[in-house]
Amino acid sequence: MAGGAMTDTDGAHKNYPGKMTIFVFLACLVASSGGLIFGYDIGISGGVTSMDPFLIKFFPSVYAKEKEMVETNQYCKFDSELLTLFTSSLYLAALIASLFASVITRKFGRKITMLGGGIIFLIGAILNGAATNVAMLIIGRILLGIGVGFSNQAVPLYLSEMAPARMRGMLNISFQLMITVGILAANLINYFTDKIAGGWGWRVSLGLAAVPAFIMAGGSLFLPDTPNSLLARGKEAEARAMLRRIRGTDDVGPEYDDLVAASKASMAIENPWSTLLERRYRPQLVMSVLIPTLQQLTGINVVMFYAPVLFKTIGFGGTASLMSAVISGIVNMAATFVSIVTVDRLGRRKLLLQGGVQMIIAQFLLGTLIFIKFGTAGVANISRSYAIVVVMCICVFVSAFAWSWGPLGWLVPSEIFPLEIRSAAQSVVVVFNMAFTFIIAQIFLMMLCHLKFGLFYFFGACELIMTAFVLFFLPETKGIPIEEMDRIWGKHWYWKRFVDNRKVEMTSTV
Ligand code: BGC
Repeated sequence: MAGGAMTDTDGAHKNYPGKMTIFVFLACLVASSGGLIFGYDIGISGGVTSMDPFLIKFFPSVYAKEKEMVETNQYCKFDSELLTLFTSSLYLAALIASLFASVITRKFGRKITMLGGGIIFLIGAILNGAATNVAMLIIGRILLGIGVGFSNQAVPLYLSEMAPARMRGMLNISFQLMITVGILAANLINYFTDKIAGGWGWRVSLGLAAVPAFIMAGGSLFLPDTPNSLLARGKEAEARAMLRRIRGTDDVGPEYDDLVAASKASMAIENPWSTLLERRYRPQLVMSVLIPTLQQLTGINVVMFYAPVLFKTIGFGGTASLMSAVISGIVNMAATFVSIVTVDRLGRRKLLLQGGVQMIIAQFLLGTLIFIKFGTAGVANISRSYAIVVVMCICVFVSAFAWSWGPLGWLVPSEIFPLEIRSAAQSVVVVFNMAFTFIIAQIFLMMLCHLKFGLFYFFGACELIMTAFVLFFLPETKGIPIEEMDRIWGKHWYWKRFVDNRKVEMTSTV
């Protein structure tokens, strides 16, 4: 890329002047509240679907089955397609919405996309809290999904573009941190609303989604747009002024020149979708599909969506189940900090490899513990101490995810795409993430009923594959400026065959 920026002492990549400013910090804090709305959704539905008054009102047949099967097969007692549709419809809507959001983020900027997402989400939350029939519930969930699709499209891009390269990892993970805060808040709220006499606690749980939506919509009114996005929309003077402001220095020439070069390259492209399919973008395309898919195949959302149901399955009472979900929520949030403080020092690969191995061990242990007690018939009474060991195992799994595939599943894709394909490729990430979130949410209870304890072995096997994938195919992206990222592929043993090395060399020495 053009520009005479300083190079690192090892000459490996550029190191633009500028520091982390309060301005960037606040902008990123507000933007990452988009993670709150996503997290709140993930955490709320599992608890609500385990509340009896909610089941009696909307899903009476599931309730009747749950009561009937107390003494029989535990693996199958919650297996209802309508109930899972309640959880998963949101992700299907998010998937479709993110395709539209890609056009909006490119044409009108990241900020408008976040604002729109917040408002639609707000309407969905109100509809859900006031629901009197299943249709209102599902339509509300679809609106929430559209909000999530918009925000997951725009926020990770926004964060990666605002952040100075050496702190990009940390700032981007604030999105994931907010997801975990949202999940934990939802778990806690469920715990308390479940106790509301009169059986309307679920309304409070669903309606309170309006709070994060309000923060996101209100906050994004005050957000500036990123220099990259301003440039891409032809606002050159504003882009330069914004870059100075967010870097806290007037000396932004080299970085600005690189942004301009990237922006020109991007404008020369008519259709980012077909461009993404070109051979030279094969590494990015593969990553944009595989990273989100593999993130979901860790099985994390089995725990996030169905923790209370899962805990009920292994014999916990209603309150104990909701409490255990709170515990895994706390672990999830706390472990995200590990990633925040280490990601820009240790790098992405080390965290993914360590987290992968820990998840494999935890899943195989979990499957075995459940097999020992429930066998294939699914009937057992488990002791308190045994149940505690199971919960601990789940926490070991959740913590590993929370410092590896959780945050990095969003961070790595958002930093590897050149500007000309960035919005389109980020859409692919959201689409695959949501598609597999949907699939897992939709078929988990059925899989549990059929695969039984083997379900945990299945996820363990997926984790084995994804850890090998990181080992062999994922290059390290730590500290590399986002508009310089093309270079990593040319140096990689496998991906170099897809990129034109001559071009990379030439542009980097201009
Ligand atoms: C994933 C979600 C998951 C959450 C858990 C996110 O990175 O995309 O599917 O529920 O992490 O914290």
